[in-house]
Amino acid sequence: MRFPTDVLAVLTDPRTVISGDLVRVPFELDRVVYEQLNTVLKEMGGRWDGRKAVRAHVFPHRIEEDFRQFLTAGEYPTRYEQGWFPTPHQLVMQVCDLAGICAGMTVLEPSAGAGALTAELARRGGVVDSVELDANRAALLRKQGDSRRVIAGDFLSLDPLDYAEGFDRIVMNPPFTGGLDHIRHAIGFMKDDGILVSVMSAGLMWWSDKASAEFRAAVEEVGGEIEPLPEGSFAAVGTDARTCLVYVPGYAGGPLRTHDWLQRQPKQLDLFDMVA
Ligand SMILES: C[S@@+](CC[C@H](N)C(=O)[O-])C[C@H]1O[C@@H](n2cnc3c(N)ncnc32)[C@H](O)[C@@H]1O
Repeated sequence: MRFPTDVLAVLTDPRTVISGDLVRVPFELDRVVYEQLNTVLKEMGGRWDGRKAVRAHVFPHRIEEDFRQFLTAGEYPTRYEQGWFPTPHQLVMQVCDLAGICAGMTVLEPSAGAGALTAELARRGGVVDSVELDANRAALLRKQGDSRRVIAGDFLSLDPLDYAEGFDRIVMNPPFTGGLDHIRHAIGFMKDDGILVSVMSAGLMWWSDKASAEFRAAVEEVGGEIEPLPEGSFAAVGTDARTCLVYVPGYAGGPLRTHDWLQRQPKQLDLFDMVA
């Protein structure tokens, strides 16, 4: 949801305090603008605390880092949107630690949103390629400048074999709906000795459909893990969705189709040449 212009102006005013778990506006606001601001902050999970010592909108969690992203993007997530729930800062750090990002590694972020993960990946020295469906957020990623390349488009329609080499790391928080399709497709971009770390809907741990069951078995076979994240991991960005963390380590010849696996397959054309 885009911030109304007047609300964005108030929230980016240098006098406004966005710190810890609160937003405080220490100057007079026009009544209409105040109502708009109040509505937006409530939609984001804030609550007005009128006590003299507080006089601020207070959130049930730290909001500083996340607000930085929302204000740069000019929009904030609501549960009704097309799946933009930026990874909260603490989880960004956990995901990047688990992926073991080191300087010079190539990293793919296939649904990069407004760059919550790409910023930290680049800060750790990763050479990041990003994909994002939403044109506004893709433009923002370009402006942010921490990706070597930004592709504005549908990740699921990219062909891994258009890339000469796979990536050392895949780090992702795909849309919660259809997230498994994103993860399985992303494995096609990973080197045999790569690592994939993804946030995912917690349902992946118990869904009984064939694709989910096969994926869980394959992850176990290659020594990966699917672990629940604590409840409220995404509260900071306005959703109580339950989530888990998927870790798929490098392997060769396993049941999941990495980039190297795809490259090893004989091409139709080569077979034809051999027969001719
Ligand atoms: C849950 S958000 C996470 C954003 C970012 N990965 C982060 O961690 O902050 C998912 C993002 O995926 C994007 N998205 C949805 N479908 C996509 C697709 N088919 N290809 C690329 N991006 C997609 C959405 O626009 C949204 O920005």
